[in-house]
Amino acid sequence: MPHVDDPRVLVDAVTRDDAAVFKLSDEKAIVVSVDFFAPIVDDPYAFGRIAGANAFSDLYAMGATPLLALNLVAWPRDPSMLELLGSALEGGLDAAREAGAFVLGGHSIDDKEPKYGMVTVGEIHPDRVISNAGAMPGDLLILTKPLGTGILSTALKRDLLIESDIRYAIEVMSELNAGAAKAMLELGNAVHAATDVTGFGLLGHLRSMMEASGKSARVSAGDVPIIEGVSDLIERDSVPGGTKSNLAHVNEVTAWSDSVSDVGRLALSDAQTSGGLLIAVEPSKASDLIKLLQQQETPVAAQIGEVVEKGKAVIEVID
Ligand code: CO
Repeated sequence: MPHVDDPRVLVDAVTRDDAAVFKLSDEKAIVVSVDFFAPIVDDPYAFGRIAGANAFSDLYAMGATPLLALNLVAWPRDPSMLELLGSALEGGLDAAREAGAFVLGGHSIDDKEPKYGMVTVGEIHPDRVISNAGAMPGDLLILTKPLGTGILSTALKRDLLIESDIRYAIEVMSELNAGAAKAMLELGNAVHAATDVTGFGLLGHLRSMMEASGKSARVSAGDVPIIEGVSDLIERDSVPGGTKSNLAHVNEVTAWSDSVSDVGRLALSDAQTSGGLLIAVEPSKASDLIKLLQQQETPVAAQIGEVVEKGKAVIEVID
């Protein structure tokens, strides 16, 4: 992606950030993101709801307030599939309603394999943009959803589990990151960087944050919340290809303690759908942030590591 040199462009793709930010005036910037994917669960309403929550997540990760969305639909023209599309759109609409945003249009194409998602647009004060790039040594790293949704939805696809087995994971993926963003915004300047954990997994997104910030991170594997049953599935090799390539990718820049198992390494690299926020916060405010996240009832509010001065490894994982 080319770097755009214009003072109105506050955030572009260079920092591998969650959304684009474009300044309209000294008081206002728009924040725009887009995401869509193929179904990861069988229930079309749950799929739509997750796709909607995921599409707004990038706005929340920047600290923005959602305003509106457009649907992106690729769907088979087969009439028997139209009812399923209706349910998926209903799920997306409910996510938008909860985000306080309107769905004002969209575009659909004929496609054998269904896909659904949204373009999302939000607003933010230009001085209050929380990007990937501001993490400082000493910051503590806080995560707001547990990991493992990629491994669980792969097990569903492979018929190792049925949908009711992953009810909790569906709940977690359906949840908006609105509460996490609200907690983070209450702390103002004490939050130095944030991103949401999605396809590149926890360590992949942490890597982007550290590289954009010019810092390194130390993660305590034992402090990272993983959904129950995920480790067993990894042992049975129910691991998505994306998760394996995420691990290969972060291995380039990660120093692992010998005591961190292969199962643990894969769990920390699992490709998430609609994952939580990963927040770098000033150490003196970390316990306040955790309290605020608990008040917002985010699935978890876990301190998983810290930011350190830039070292040889971008990420160090200890037990
Ligand atoms: Co993101």
